[in-house]
Order: sequence, then C-alpha cells, then structure tokens
Amino acid sequence: MRFAFGVWILSTFTARVIALGSSVCSLTPVGHGKDDTNQVEAAIAHCGHGGNIIFNAGQYNITRKMTWNLTNSRVDLHGYLNFNPDVEYWLNPNNTYRVVFIQSQASWFVVTGRDFVIDAHNVGGIQGNGQTWWNYFSNRTREDGDGRPIAFTLSHVTKGIVRNFRIESQPFWCNTVADSKNVIYDGMLCNATNTNPAFAGQNVVPNTDGIDTYRSDDVQLLNWDITCGDDCLAIKGNSTNILASNVSCHGGNGVAVGSLGQYVGLNDIVDHVTFEDVKLLRLPSTVQPNMGSGVYFKTWTGSVNGVPPTGGGGGGGFVSNVISRRFTLDRVSNPIHLYQTNGGHSNDTPSGLQFSNLTFEDWQGTSLSNTIVNLQCSPAVPCPNMLFKDVDVATPSGQGASFVCVNVINEEGLPGAFIMID
Ligand SMILES: *[C@@H]1O[C@H](CO)[C@@H](O)[C@H](O)[C@H]1NC(C)=O
Ligand SMILES: *[C@@H]1O[C@H](CO)[C@@H](O)[C@H](O)[C@H]1NC(C)=O
Ligand SMILES: *[C@@H]1O[C@H](CO)[C@@H](O)[C@H](O)[C@H]1NC(C)=O
Ligand SMILES: *[C@@H]1O[C@H](CO)[C@@H](O)[C@H](O)[C@H]1NC(C)=O
Ligand SMILES: *[C@@H]1O[C@H](CO)[C@@H](O)[C@H](O)[C@H]1NC(C)=O
Ligand SMILES: *[C@@H]1O[C@H](CO)[C@@H](O)[C@H](O)[C@H]1NC(C)=O
Ligand SMILES: *[C@@H]1O[C@H](CO)[C@@H](O)[C@H](O)[C@H]1NC(C)=O
Ligand SMILES: *[C@@H]1O[C@H](CO)[C@@H](O)[C@H](O)[C@H]1NC(C)=O
Repeated sequence: MRFAFGVWILSTFTARVIALGSSVCSLTPVGHGKDDTNQVEAAIAHCGHGGNIIFNAGQYNITRKMTWNLTNSRVDLHGYLNFNPDVEYWLNPNNTYRVVFIQSQASWFVVTGRDFVIDAHNVGGIQGNGQTWWNYFSNRTREDGDGRPIAFTLSHVTKGIVRNFRIESQPFWCNTVADSKNVIYDGMLCNATNTNPAFAGQNVVPNTDGIDTYRSDDVQLLNWDITCGDDCLAIKGNSTNILASNVSCHGGNGVAVGSLGQYVGLNDIVDHVTFEDVKLLRLPSTVQPNMGSGVYFKTWTGSVNGVPPTGGGGGGGFVSNVISRRFTLDRVSNPIHLYQTNGGHSNDTPSGLQFSNLTFEDWQGTSLSNTIVNLQCSPAVPCPNMLFKDVDVATPSGQGASFVCVNVINEEGLPGAFIMID
C-alpha cells in the first residue's frame, strides 16, 4: 500500500520527473507485523538507477535475502532494515547468498553497483537482532562458513559511499567489502553487546568483526565506532590502498591484518594500508572480557591442515607498507603482535608469506602485559624493515617493557635491550 503511494508520486509528477531525469521513491514501514521486503525491493527496482529512494523513519521488516543494485543513485535511510530473527530460516543455505569467496561466508543483504550514496544520517541502518543469534549459538558449534550471515555486504561495487550508518547487534561480521574499488564508508557504528545476564563475563559474540576487506582496492573507513567480540577491522587478502582513520574499537581482538594464506595456490596481497587515530578501549569484563591487541598480523603456516572454510594453510603472497600511527590503548593484552602459525602444528612447514615495511608510530596508553611488541616472523621469510617511532605504551606497574623480534631482519627504533632471535 505504501509503495503504491510512492508510485503515485511518480505518476503524478511524471513531467517533473522526466524533466529532472530522475525518479524519487518514498517509503514508510507497512507496520502491524507485516513484511516490508516487497516494497523495499520495488523501490530499489524503480529508483535504484538514476533515482533517489527515501526511507522514512521506522523499522522495515525484512524477511528474506535482498540485493540492491544501485547505479547513479542515492538512498536516504532514516529507518532500520530489521532482519527478522528467524535463525533457522536464515541458516538454510538457500536463504542467504554466498558472494563472499573467503571462508564461504553467508550474506543476507548485498549491495552492488556503482556511483551511489547510501546515507543513513546517523538515525538508520540495519537492526541485526543479534541477541537471538548469540543465545542460539551459545551452546552450539560456531564455524567459519556455517551460514551465520554478514549483516551488510558490499560486493562488486565501484565508487560507492556509505555515510553515517548504524548496525545494531550484528549476528556475525558486521560489514564486508569484497571485489570492489573506490569505496568510502564515512561514519559507521556496529554494536554487538550481549545483554543476556546468563552470559555475563563470557564472550558470546565471537565473529562479530567490524569489517572484513577482501579483494578490494582504495577503501576508506572513516569515523568508525565498533563494539564487538572479535576483529575490530580485519584486512584480508588482496586489500590494497586502505585507509582507516578515527576508529574506536570497544572490546574484541583489535585491528587485524589476516588471517592470510588460508588457500593453497592463492596469493594474498596486502599493500599500502594505513591505520591512524585508532583507540582500543577495554569494556567492563561482565560485558566483554577481551581487548586483545592494538594491531595484530597473522598467517596460516606453509602446510595444508584441512580445507577452507574451517581449515587450510599453504597460501602465499605478501604484506607490505602498513602504517599504524596514533594508537591509544586502554588495557590491551598484546599491543603489537605478529604470528605465522594460525591453525598450524609444531612440525609444519613455515609460512612463505612475507611481511615487510611495517611502521608503528606514536603509540600511547596501557598494556596488561609487559610484552609491548611481539613479532614472530616465519623463518622461511624473515621480516625486513620493521620501523618503530615513539611507541610509548605503559606496562603494568613495576614491570619492565619487553620487545620481542623473532626472524626480523632489520628493525629500527626499539630500545637497545630488546630480544632479537633469528
Ligand atoms: C515480519 O513479517 C513476518 C512475515 O509476515 C511476520 O511473521 C513477522 O511477525 C514480522 N515481524 C515484525 C517485527 O513485524
Ligand atoms: C546492475 O545494474 C546494471 C545496470 O543496469 C547492470 O549492468 C548490472 O549487470 C547489474 N548488476 C547485477 C549484479 O545485477
Ligand atoms: C534448497 O533448494 C533446493 C532446490 O530448490 C532443494 O532441493 C533443497 O532441498 C533446498 N535445501 C534446503 C536445506 O531446504
Ligand atoms: C541450548 O540451551 C537451551 C537453553 O538455554 C536449551 O533449550 C537447548 O536445548 C540447548 N541446546 C543444545 C544443543 O544443547
Ligand atoms: C551498545 O549497546 C549496549 C547495549 O544495548 C549499550 O549499552 C551501549 O551503549 C551501546 N554502545 C554504543 C557505542 O552505542
Ligand atoms: C571520530 O568518529 C566519531 C564517530 O565514531 C565522531 O563522532 C567524531 O566526531 C570523529 N572525530 C573527528 C575528529 O572527526
Ligand atoms: C590476488 O591478486 C593476485 C594478482 O595480483 C592474484 O594472483 C591472486 O590470486 C589474488 N588473490 C586472491 C585471494 O584473490
Ligand atoms: C619497502 O620499502 C622500501 C624502501 O622504501 C622499498 O624500496 C620497497 O619496495 C618496499 N617493499 C615492498 C614490498 O613494497
């Protein structure tokens, strides 16, 4: 009915619409336990090419998977796309997309296309109803690729802008950008916070990553606020020219580069990544017990241990030219960490995926351990050019800081007393 109203606007103002060369679709939630998916799809079909879709305030009930193909268009989302929390429905593989290659992750909402803006004006976005999912999975096995859906997926996007967008209680990864280029996210909130007292003190929100970037070039993550129980940002294979600026991470594992090298025969390249003005903020332990790292880097080993999405290893590639500057830490467990043994065993072949040119500059705040830097590079491909400048993180009172570099070829800027093993 409401969409009929939108069509009415179109037909009434046909002359003006044609004169402007664009169309406008305006929606209001149907309400009363009804389903909004049809009217949302119809609005995107009518106005998603060269037009403007205006969602008025309210909750839009989305009951099935949905793709928006936007070209030369604009979406003003003043309300929430509320994904119906029917967990078993969504877990049927027929009811989600698998457009994200890595780990065969599922998506319930995919945006594709080019030259578009989605602006949620800080008052709209996605309601993920994650608490229902976290309760459901609290006593079940969680695995990559198990069908828990990514809340908001950009796939095959060129020149897309997402502005002031809120994602409340993502069940799984909050965002993914894959196979895309020239994407700007300016203003993003993701909040995976358990409120079930039965799980106080536990991390029942694993895999609620703020974003995973994959096979994408030129992506900006500006002004992000992430509350999660996993990676605040995760830079995965073939992410190049990535800028993350002004990011607050509340709880979770911290900022990740990886995991990389999961797929044998596939090279993962991460080049030219800058993280700046990043805050890692520990939450009360009843809410979220983890606040892992400032930034951490991880690869699988050189051996193949099972197959993706859950196993893997043996993949190549490299990581280079990553700058992490102006980090503020609040009681982080392992401030700067690099390891190349993800999913591995002690007698595995070492990883052949090399890290070089990593810069850490202007770090302050507090660590819960006295090991501020712990770089464990692969003996097969030691790390050249590890540069530290003004890394000034306080250790627990009375403890001396330690800096560990294993298989590091050329380090600059750490105190002379650091431990170097190669
Ligand atoms: C969403 O629509 C479905 C199908 O009509 C309905 O069962 C469900 O109650 C609706 N949810 C809300 C929150 O209105
Ligand atoms: C999106 O729309 C454009 C323009 O009509 C079309 O070329 C493209 O194939 C569509 N993409 C998808 C994924 O449907
Ligand atoms: C998925 O869809 C296919 C084709 O319609 C059907 O054969 C299959 O049973 C469905 N799977 C599930 C789990 O419902
Ligand atoms: C999980 O816990 C709920 C109650 O919290 C219970 O009803 C359900 O049977 C349990 N499921 C499994 C698989 O143990
Ligand atoms: C996240 O959600 C929790 C629980 O609803 C709330 O207490 C907290 O203020 C929210 N955080 C942000 C940053 O919105
Ligand atoms: C940083 O991002 C937050 C949103 O997470 C925003 O409120 C704040 O204004 C931004 N700060 C600057 C200096 O732009
Ligand atoms: C990354 O790009 C390189 C070519 O630049 C390609 O060989 C490799 O397969 C790509 N890896 C992934 C994970 O797509
Ligand atoms: C690392 O930096 C050096 C010096 O700036 C540069 O010559 C080299 O190409 C860089 N390495 C990579 C893999 O980009």
